[in-house]
Amino acid sequence: MSKILVTGGAGFIGSHTCVELLEAGHEIVILDNFSNSKPEALNRIKKITGKDFKFYEADLLNLSDVEKVFKENDISAVIHFAGLKAVGESVQKPVEYYHNNITGTLMLIQAMRKYNCKKIVFSSSATVYGVNNPVPYVETMPTNSSTNPYGYTKVMIEQILKDVYVSDNNWSVVLLRYFNPIGAHKSGLIGEDPNGIPNNLFPYIAQVATGKLEALGVFGNDYDTPDGTGVRDYIHVVDLATGHLNALNYALEHNGVEAVNLGTGKGSSVMDVLHAFEKACGKELPYVIKPRRAGDIATCYADTHKAKELLGWEAKYQLDEMAADGWNFTKNNPNGL
Ligand code: NAD
Ligand code: UD1
Repeated sequence: MSKILVTGGAGFIGSHTCVELLEAGHEIVILDNFSNSKPEALNRIKKITGKDFKFYEADLLNLSDVEKVFKENDISAVIHFAGLKAVGESVQKPVEYYHNNITGTLMLIQAMRKYNCKKIVFSSSATVYGVNNPVPYVETMPTNSSTNPYGYTKVMIEQILKDVYVSDNNWSVVLLRYFNPIGAHKSGLIGEDPNGIPNNLFPYIAQVATGKLEALGVFGNDYDTPDGTGVRDYIHVVDLATGHLNALNYALEHNGVEAVNLGTGKGSSVMDVLHAFEKACGKELPYVIKPRRAGDIATCYADTHKAKELLGWEAKYQLDEMAADGWNFTKNNPNGL
């Protein structure tokens, strides 16, 4: 049976997607260099699904290692998560971000071409919509501006994959633009496990709830939003994972390039997320209002029509469930995986 290669499969979104792939009966191969994840994530995937898979500890930047994966396995499609993703760090280390994300993707594409594997689902981001488009974001909007090197790696990789298709119409490319993935698998065995102090809202709140961090800093309460705090389209990571199954099925059956938003279409404010988490953990969580964070926008949410029409997918979970499942993971794994 042919297999699906998952790059970055030990990471937050990759591990949840591997669970869904295995449960849907796919055979998978995972490649990861553990630069932002731990081997324990792989044990947890096996524990949840009761299924085994091949794993390669390898860096995408090493072409011969990537080619070896294709040589030793019959890979029919790739789901490509591997990349560095911290916006602030990308501003400090642009060269490392461009090299890892873009060169890594070029190596992967070269290996795919050599072994005649031409189907890829890529982890893009809502960040490609930049700061000038009105909400809700629609896939046809321009995506040529970003505010940071991380965002530009997504813009550029989307362009590279579009150009690869133009050069060879046998390729099938699905660019999934994720909104804000949060929450965790219902088992509480896998979830988000950031290194150091989290930059993103949800893992930060989780660490306030465990007492590791003192109080949430709310970055601005004077935005033009219902309660003045920033509004985002939070999506349960398991919904995001099932979106990849639909995207994969689409890619296996069609050639071409499609960009698709994966979001709920609904915005929630910082205070909404905080209150949902308070409900989940059963206590009030301290917060202080801070100045706006540079580069932030007031409101970001998806137009979800294309995901429904093209992939037959829509998000199922609401914010309360995202908070409950996220807290369940944090409570069971206070020190991460
Ligand atoms: P993550 O850091 O948890 O997972 C990424 C995985 O890729 C990690 O396991 C890391 O070790 C691995 N990796 C990185 N560089 C590699 C390399 N050169 N070779 C091999 N493995 C490598 O991140 P995540 O949240 O699961 O995100 C997955 C993808 O989705 C990323 O491309 C990210 O940019 C994108 N994305 C994430 C979010 C989000 O909010 N989490 C939003 C939009 C897009
Ligand atoms: C961030 C990235 C975005 C990336 C996304 C995925 C930035 C500027 N953008 O999006 O490129 O695709 O993560 O993970 O980093 N907030 C607080 N206090 C905090 C943390 C956040 O009030 O301690 C607020 C923010 O101002 C924002 C909201 O919470 O309004 C969500 O922030 P965050 O979780 O960092 O995600 P984004 O900024 O939407």
